[in-house]
Amino acid sequence: LLGSLISRISPNLIRYASSSSASSTGRKVAVLGASGGIGQPLSLLLKLSPLISDLSLYDIQHTKGVGADLSHIETRAKVKAYVGKEELGNALKGMDLVVIPAGVPRKPGMTRDDLFNTNATIVADLVSACAKNCPRAIIAIIANPVNSTVVIAAEILKANNVYDEKKVVGVTTLDVVRAATFVAEAKGLDPTKVNVPVIGGHSGNTIIPLLSQVSPPVSFSQQELDSLSTRIQNAGTEVVEAKAGTGSATLSMAHAGARFSFSVLEALSGKQGVVECGYIASHDGEFSHFATPLLFGRNGVEKSMGTGKLSDYEKKLLEKAKKELNTNIQSGLTFAKQYL
Ligand code: NAD
Ligand code: LMR
Repeated sequence: LLGSLISRISPNLIRYASSSSASSTGRKVAVLGASGGIGQPLSLLLKLSPLISDLSLYDIQHTKGVGADLSHIETRAKVKAYVGKEELGNALKGMDLVVIPAGVPRKPGMTRDDLFNTNATIVADLVSACAKNCPRAIIAIIANPVNSTVVIAAEILKANNVYDEKKVVGVTTLDVVRAATFVAEAKGLDPTKVNVPVIGGHSGNTIIPLLSQVSPPVSFSQQELDSLSTRIQNAGTEVVEAKAGTGSATLSMAHAGARFSFSVLEALSGKQGVVECGYIASHDGEFSHFATPLLFGRNGVEKSMGTGKLSDYEKKLLEKAKKELNTNIQSGLTFAKQYL
């Protein structure tokens, strides 16, 4: 019933209820920061998935209520709620995938980097607990500034001798989701059929949409290229300003986080050809971390699909991104050194 209801609402949402790709064993997924603006709707969407057998909700507050509420939904995943540091270890044991939306969001006038001081420690503490309790789990980091928090996570896992660079990914799916929506709007296309790769990082001008590689192929005037690229880069700020001090994107991010999680889980269960963009350790270019389309497999990221051939316009965007991305990566490294 749920399946037919959801599939009538949107073909994209079939993934929430389809049983065709459900693994018989089911996967164990933890959401850290599960009581938050992203955490609650993300946990709801994950609870709807037949791919998940166990859903572990952790936060420093309110998870017992969120968990009780979600546990009444008639779907497969068994929900367990954990609250406070002393319950964190148990929340993580046996997890296949840990999604981290814990941390403070922006208010108008702030950059994502302004969140660094608070969120760096939150992510470092949570990833340290992952290193001890679920060292083989895939870790998907939503907490900002993603360009730095992923670097911090990598350094912490390295220090604990459990780092597998195929398993630590910054979630940039919201940039891809937005790019598809805005391109579809501009060109009168079905947004569910549009794919726009987005590379680089996840802040301001480090977000580099590849409008020369849109599928299905579309061409843009210079004015369209400028306005679409700028809107995609500033879309987070668009939401922060519209929310006027009450937070940043939560609902679209919950969708993006669920989309990313389902892709990871489908690939873990053997589905071939699963590609999502993500921010990950890189050895191809001049950055130690960089977002590209990634091919997922049974062990996490199988390989980066690279950037493809960039247009001159995209090469210029990449040039403009370099300073900020390098600074963000360096901040992550410096923080990790002090933390460890
Ligand atoms: P929120 O304030 O609504 O929720 C954050 C949650 O984290 C709260 O429930 C809080 O109790 C919890 N938390 C704080 N410290 C914690 C800790 N040590 N352990 C576990 N939980 C902890 O914020 P939100 O709107 O859900 O945003 C969360 C983060 O996601 C922010 O950093 C935001 O910038 C980021 N974000 C990223 C993207 C992206 O595309 N990657 C998109 C939107 C938001
Ligand atoms: C987003 O892109 O919406 C998030 O990174 C949140 C923000 O601060 O913009």
